[in-house]
Amino acid sequence: MLETKVKRYQYGNPFQTDAVVIKLPIYHEPLQKLSHENGNFIYKLEKGAAVYGLGESVRGINKRGWFYTSFCTDDDMHTENKHALYGSHNFLICNESQPFGIFIDYPGKVHFDIGYTDLDTLMIEPEMMNLDLYLIEGQNVLEIIQTFRTLIGQSYIPPKWAFGYQQSRWSYETADEIREVAYHFKKHEIPLDSIYLDIDYMQNLKDFTVDPHKFPDFENLVAELKEEGIHLIPIIDAGVKAEAGYEIYEEGIKNGYFIKNEDGTPFEAAVWPGKVHFPDFLNKETRTWFGMKYKTLIDKGIEGFWNDMNEPSIFYTPNAMKQAMDSVLENKEKNIDLGLFFGIKDQFSNILNKPEYFKEMYHDTDQGFVCHHEVHNLYGYNMTRAAAEAFDVIKEERMLLFSRASSTGMHRFSGIWTGDNRSWWSHLLLNIKMMPSLNMCGYLYSGADIGGFSDNTTEDLLTRWLQFGIFTPLMRNHTAKYTRAQEPYRFKSMAVMRHFICLRYVLVNHLYSEYMKACLSNTLYFKALAFEYSDDISKEIEDQLLLGDGLMIAPIYEQNKTGRVVYFPEEMLCVRFTTEKTYQLELMKQGHHYVSMPIDQLVIFIRPNHLLILNDEAQNVSQLDNHQIEIIAHVQTTCEGRYYEDNGLVKNPKLEDGLSQININIENNEVGTQWQKSKNSQLNHVTYTVYDAKQNEIFIHTENL
Ligand code: NOJ
Repeated sequence: MLETKVKRYQYGNPFQTDAVVIKLPIYHEPLQKLSHENGNFIYKLEKGAAVYGLGESVRGINKRGWFYTSFCTDDDMHTENKHALYGSHNFLICNESQPFGIFIDYPGKVHFDIGYTDLDTLMIEPEMMNLDLYLIEGQNVLEIIQTFRTLIGQSYIPPKWAFGYQQSRWSYETADEIREVAYHFKKHEIPLDSIYLDIDYMQNLKDFTVDPHKFPDFENLVAELKEEGIHLIPIIDAGVKAEAGYEIYEEGIKNGYFIKNEDGTPFEAAVWPGKVHFPDFLNKETRTWFGMKYKTLIDKGIEGFWNDMNEPSIFYTPNAMKQAMDSVLENKEKNIDLGLFFGIKDQFSNILNKPEYFKEMYHDTDQGFVCHHEVHNLYGYNMTRAAAEAFDVIKEERMLLFSRASSTGMHRFSGIWTGDNRSWWSHLLLNIKMMPSLNMCGYLYSGADIGGFSDNTTEDLLTRWLQFGIFTPLMRNHTAKYTRAQEPYRFKSMAVMRHFICLRYVLVNHLYSEYMKACLSNTLYFKALAFEYSDDISKEIEDQLLLGDGLMIAPIYEQNKTGRVVYFPEEMLCVRFTTEKTYQLELMKQGHHYVSMPIDQLVIFIRPNHLLILNDEAQNVSQLDNHQIEIIAHVQTTCEGRYYEDNGLVKNPKLEDGLSQININIENNEVGTQWQKSKNSQLNHVTYTVYDAKQNEIFIHTENL
């Protein structure tokens, strides 16, 4: 079936990345769609055709007009002049009269010149010709995406509690500080499902250790928070501190588990704790060993982790540091003039994440002894896979897991967050635009640092970001050291922020349901308008998104705005939440409309014949009352909805176990509903608010199931 839509071409001797789960036979006819010249794949783009994809990258949803590089990079300046961020997602779609997708299954560096050198030319330049190229055909963008996603396998499903609001900062340093955060959320009745532990919880920055002075009663703390419905989520870094007596270091050295120099000795670099070694995650034995280390914390009650610095990020190597120091000392007595000054300065500023380091590192894999540079994009992926594979052995239930670095294939094991953004309005917009591209490449459980990571946030930016964050599967407020505190209770407008966080819980069953459907059917949770509508206006809109089957959102991403122009490709029902419990309905005709969006209101648009499902608010996901829901239906003819529900923890959920189906018919002002409830459903009471667009009337209807 897939073979009729996908052709796999092979060049050279590719390293097996495990990006795809369906092994297709190699197609031996010459590649006709693209020309293949001097190690590049070249394609003449149709005038005006959009190019979508590349997952986590800068700029817009339509990638045409820039030069992107696929090479996982720790760069905390996500500005539009950049070429690479933390993830490498080599899938794109040319949306032409005969649309097609391309996936380059290659773990090293690939350049994608998408109309940068010449606006009408797509040029793909892999550093080496050892790769599989997949050409995917389909009637439209959505069909091509679904085919690609089937090829690479089902996306990661987190526990349902991971859809609650999550609070983080670098760092809550002590148990008391964590308790204080939890206390303030409770006191102010702001819902909360998780608090994050950043690097300072560790003992001297060593993975899988807990500082006994700062957290003297760690297990009690975890249990105590769990009583309140709050999960504690520790960070794990890729670099293992090189310190005699530290179990992980000792075991890693003894068993040869670390990345090596070409001569087989352990490669040494430096990150947070100073000197570190990097586990060789491309080695299966190392993966099993490191993965099982998560058990140390799982045994203390931990149910989720975030994997960081796994591009890997390297501050310096001892050699590079020595060179820089020597050059300073050499010049110590000299007159430091212009040239010398900048020379010395650059010695130090360029020492961080030097690309040359990757050429000194080697992996011992079952496919041979390979230079890291050639397989660079697999590193974070395999660190995260190590954790996920161990969780399968350790835990019956789903665990929360997301990573900073990623590449195609890792989406089956975890989610991602989009790294060190800034408290900039432009980064809120970047967050909005990145979501559909991430979804295309399999990353559904994702989100940005709400409020912004670096720099100081402002009250209005945080509020507007929370408004968008309501819809991202990962809704986490996180900020860097030394920035302004950005927990919602720190601000004068706390009540407004609480209102939006409460709304997340009012919508959480709907959002979870859409998430599950997208995972189980390899479809999108977030879509660009262009993926669904073919009119000329929709094609160019990048600041409104479709969510799941039936919703559209149009976030505010500029300061001092109280409304914005929204384009409606078709008639939609506007639901305006004024408080968590009250909303107003208004029918919006097709076309452009200015929609007022004061900072304390949230608007969601329901497409014709679709539903929005609301539940009562709760202080965390475990307290949700799943016995009753309210359905707002926008009925033009017949409305039909699929609603997914399960216990939020079962691994590998199947549609037959958890899917409920709702059909609503309206005839002569009579509401007829058919409800097929899944067998484990707790639901017994539904209130329908039906907006009958033909009659321009609202009916309320209740049903006991
Ligand atoms: C870099 C990560 O991107 C950030 O989220 C984290 O707070 C810092 N590392 C410190 O661990």
